[in-house]
Order: sequence, then C-alpha cells, then structure tokens
Amino acid sequence: CGIVGYIGKREAAPLLLEGLQRLEYRGYDSAGIAIHSSGTGKSAGLKTAKTKGRVRDLEDRLPKRFAGTTGIAHTRWATHGAPNDENAHPHLDAAEKVAVVHNGIIDNASELRAKLTADGVVFLSETDTEVLSHLIARAQAETLEARIQEALRHVEGTYGIAVLHADFPDRIVVARNGSPVVLGIGEHEMFVASDVAALVSHTRQVVTLDDGEMATIKADDYRTYTTEGSRTSTSPETVEWAAESYDMGGHDTYMHKEIAEQADAVDRVLRGRIDDRFATVHLGGLNLDAREARTMRRVKILGCGSAYHAGMIGAQLIEELARIPADAEPASEFRYRNAVVDPDTLYIAVSQSGETYDTLAAVQELKRKGARVLGVVNVVGSAIARETDGGVYVHAGPEVCVVSTKCFTNTAVAFGLLALHLGRIRDLSVADGKRIIAGLRKLPDQIAEVLRAEGEIEKLAADYAQAKSMMFVGRVRGYPVAREASLKLKEVSYIHAEAYPASELKHGPLALIEPAVPTVAILPDDDLLDKNRATLEEIKARSGRILAVAHQEQEKADHTIVVPRNEVELDPILMGIPLQLLAYHTALALGRDIDKPRNLAKSVTVE
Ligand code: G6P
Repeated sequence: CGIVGYIGKREAAPLLLEGLQRLEYRGYDSAGIAIHSSGTGKSAGLKTAKTKGRVRDLEDRLPKRFAGTTGIAHTRWATHGAPNDENAHPHLDAAEKVAVVHNGIIDNASELRAKLTADGVVFLSETDTEVLSHLIARAQAETLEARIQEALRHVEGTYGIAVLHADFPDRIVVARNGSPVVLGIGEHEMFVASDVAALVSHTRQVVTLDDGEMATIKADDYRTYTTEGSRTSTSPETVEWAAESYDMGGHDTYMHKEIAEQADAVDRVLRGRIDDRFATVHLGGLNLDAREARTMRRVKILGCGSAYHAGMIGAQLIEELARIPADAEPASEFRYRNAVVDPDTLYIAVSQSGETYDTLAAVQELKRKGARVLGVVNVVGSAIARETDGGVYVHAGPEVCVVSTKCFTNTAVAFGLLALHLGRIRDLSVADGKRIIAGLRKLPDQIAEVLRAEGEIEKLAADYAQAKSMMFVGRVRGYPVAREASLKLKEVSYIHAEAYPASELKHGPLALIEPAVPTVAILPDDDLLDKNRATLEEIKARSGRILAVAHQEQEKADHTIVVPRNEVELDPILMGIPLQLLAYHTALALGRDIDKPRNLAKSVTVE
C-alpha cells in the first residue's frame, strides 16, 4: 500500500494524485483521498473521494469542487476486507472529523471493533484501519497529537498512518510502527509518503521516521516526537535518486526499462569495490572483521520471492568461492519454524525494498536471539538495512515494476562480491580471485550482448504464450535460474509454471510432459553438461518441446538461446536474463498488465 500527504500553498489534489501514481506499484486495488476543503460555512471541513480500482479511476471520480491545500491519499492492496469502495482509505469517523490512511495491519482490530460496536459505533467498512478513525475521534485529549497517541495505545500491530482532523486544519500528523513514513521538506510546503518515490519530483530533502516515532507537519515546519510524547531530533537527508529514475524513459513499461538497464546497474554495484592489486573486495558497510569471516561455520540466507532466489545463487557462490557451507531459505518459513539460532552462523537477509514484513520479522527474531545478521538490500536506509548489523547495498536504483529484474541480477552480483571477499579472507587464491574479478567485470558487456537477442526471444514468446503450463529445469547452478525464470513467467504472464532440479524430473514431474507443456532447460557449460543433456533426451522421448539456455546450440532442443560464457561460478547471473525477456514478451503477447500483475504488490509489508 502507499501513503502520500501534502500541506502548503498549492492545490493538494493534483499533487496527491501524482504521488499516488508513483506509488501505485505498491498496491493497486483501490485508492482514495481526503482534503481540508478551502470552502467556508457548509462546504468547510473534510472532503473525501475513494474508489475500488486504479488511481486513474479515482481521478475520474473526483468531484469538480475539490479545492484545498492540505490532504492525504492512499493506494491500497487489500488485506482485511475485499477491494471495494467502502474498504478504500481514507477512513472517517461518524462525524467525519477524522480521516486516516494506514499501511500495515492492526492485529487486535476485531477485538477493538467489538468494543467500539458495543459502545454504539457503526462501522462502514470491513477494514482494520477504521478502528483508528473511531479511536482518534473518541479520544479526549486536547491536542490532535495527544488524541492520536491515546488511540495508538489501544492498538497492537504495525502501522504507518497519516491523519487529518477537521478541527486542526493547519497540520497533518503521522506515526510509524513497522511501516515506513518519510517526510519531504519543501519551501513553504511539506510532503509525507510511505516511499520517497512519491516525493522526489518535489524535494530531495527527506526525514525518515523510526518505529515508535510521530511527526506533525505544517506548511512551514515539522517536529518529530515519540508515541510517548518526548521530542526526537532529526535532520533532513538528501536522497540519492533523482526524479528521472522513476520515469519510464521511452520504454512502454517499467519492466522493459528495468531489464534494459541491467548493464548499467551491474556496473554500479561493482564500482569502487574491487582492488585489483590483491584481488580483494572492499565493502564499506559490511561490518564483519577478518577474524569473524574466518571463524564462521555456516551462512544462512533469508529472503522472499525473487530475493530468495537471488539468495540461492548467493549461497552457491559463497560455498564455491569461500568454501563455507551456505544455504538459502524463504524468510517467511524460517520465522515460523523456531529455527535453531547458531552463534557460528552468519545470517544474511536479502530484500529489494528492505521492507518485506516476513524478512524483517526474521531479522528481528534473529537479533533477539543474539545472531549476527547482515543485509543485502537495495533501498538505502530501509527498515531491514537499519535493523541489520551491516551489509552490502545492491545499488540497482529504484525498481518500480512489481516483478523484480535488475534488482535480482544486482543482488546476485552483490553476492559474487561478498563471496569473493569471504573467499579471499579464507582460502581462495589470488589467481582465482583475479579470475572471478575479470568475470565480474565482463558482466555488463555480456548483459548488453544477451539483450541484443531480444528480437529472437520475442518470436519465441509468441509461440510459448500458447502453452498450457511450462516446466523449468536446471541442475545445481542452473536450478536457482530455473526457479526465478519460472516465478517471473507466472507472475507476469499468469501461465502456470513449475521449476524442478533437472535430476528430480524423473521422480515425478516427468508425468506432466507433453507437447502442450514445454520445458525450458538451463544448461551451463560446466561439469554437469552431460547429465543435463541426458535430461533433454528424457524430455524428448516423451515428445516434450524444449527451449535450452546454453553456451552452445543443443541438438536435442527445439531452440537454443546461446548466451556468452563467463566463469562457471558466475554463469547463472547471465543465464537468467534472456528468460526475463521471455516472461516479458509472453505477457505482452497475452496482453497482461505487465508492471502491475493481478493480485500482487511490490512490497508485502504484511504477514
Ligand atoms: C513481493 C514481490 C516480489 C518480491 C518479494 C520480496 O512478493 O511481489 O516480486 O520478490 O515481495 O520483496 P523484497 O522487497 O523483500 O525483495
């Protein structure tokens, strides 16, 4: 979900709608807006508009007279209650004095709802958020800030909220606990948002709230304090990314733009981090000394979705280059299984957004148990980046399309650097270090070369768009590539896809193979090539169609996408890229909503 707010001299509605457009990738099943009306007499007070659907539907629904220079707005991804007009935010109290927009989940909402209903409150929506509007409206304190604090004392759960009150037209009050809130500091105007993406076209001066922190923003100043009321000191930081990074730059979709940007993105993650003389890596924020790097006995990598798959590649790189046992696990599973937390294990949380709730919760649980946790994160200063002891920034730049492409690739490259770093502290030779460095440096040009084959992949996609289901297989290094390619295809094209280790095919999924279920096989030119070729034979014998991704033409395949050879350890990074294009063009051929696939959101900040 996304929050945006404005207070200043300009008309709020157009600014809020623009902010919502930029946040729409975070949730897009309904949208709404509330403003302090600039009218007098009867037309004074709060005005709201909300609707199921996209931001453009809200724009169409906006009443003609919607003037005012203070407002808040929201784009939603349903958790409690179906996506419909009533459940869209903002939520108001019965007297329409208080308007609240909220990201996160109120865990004790049903309990609070029952109490309020018993007291005669009539609820208009099924959301957890609405309890907040009623609690704030019923609070007795004098100031708006104190009323919100009073209401929040009843609430368990996570929130990022922005509140308007008809009797306090000079301010917006925000609070954060587990869901991001940033303030944007302008000249005689202020912004609030759940993500800097909504602010950067107006100001690059931002203040990021901490958990347990609140802020009051007025047109000319802001102050921050805790939910207990004690003042906190914050000074604005300058955000790195300019507004252009959020534009589509001539592409029809963000997904296409982000795929095309990968050579530059990889160049960025490598820049300034390699020391050629000693074949070592410099990772300034890692916060792991050589002694720790030598004595750790295991590495456990945690993430969700594409971040988990990038972590699988990371685990292989760490095992291969640093010879430390390593594995990756979905953070969402790890946090629920009361895992044994081992003092000799280094834990690494992987996340593009740095906000994914399951990953954050895993980090918090690990820290409670005294573990050492590093982050491999894209968004600088995000919750996971702050909660971890140190880590590596991925520097992919803003990723807007819901499905991850450039950030996935950059995360894998960041793991290449980390594995090399750990390896050189442990047993990796200078010669091998130099070999990997040369391989990393080749990646941007090789990515550009892979992307030049787009026309060929587009033709293939027209054919694969007819598939009933697709199978993706790979062995060891190829397996995480198969997993990610399968996820990409299903997310964006809605074609059912499965990923299996090639070796497991004969233990069951081979039963699915038939002409309408083609297989994509990842066959790097490593010591497993012959085994992989045998898998192709097995598939052919069941009259399955095969698309191979390999370093040379594969005789058994109906078609081979040939990718340039790098070092065997780094090959997986390149082999995934043509399959991003395959997913993209398949979805395009099927007329899918590429940047905003149905039912998904970019950052899942709820459980
Ligand atoms: C959501 C997105 C996925 C993403 C995952 C993890 O499920 O739809 O595309 O990979 O979250 O996101 P993160 O920001 O933690 O990398």
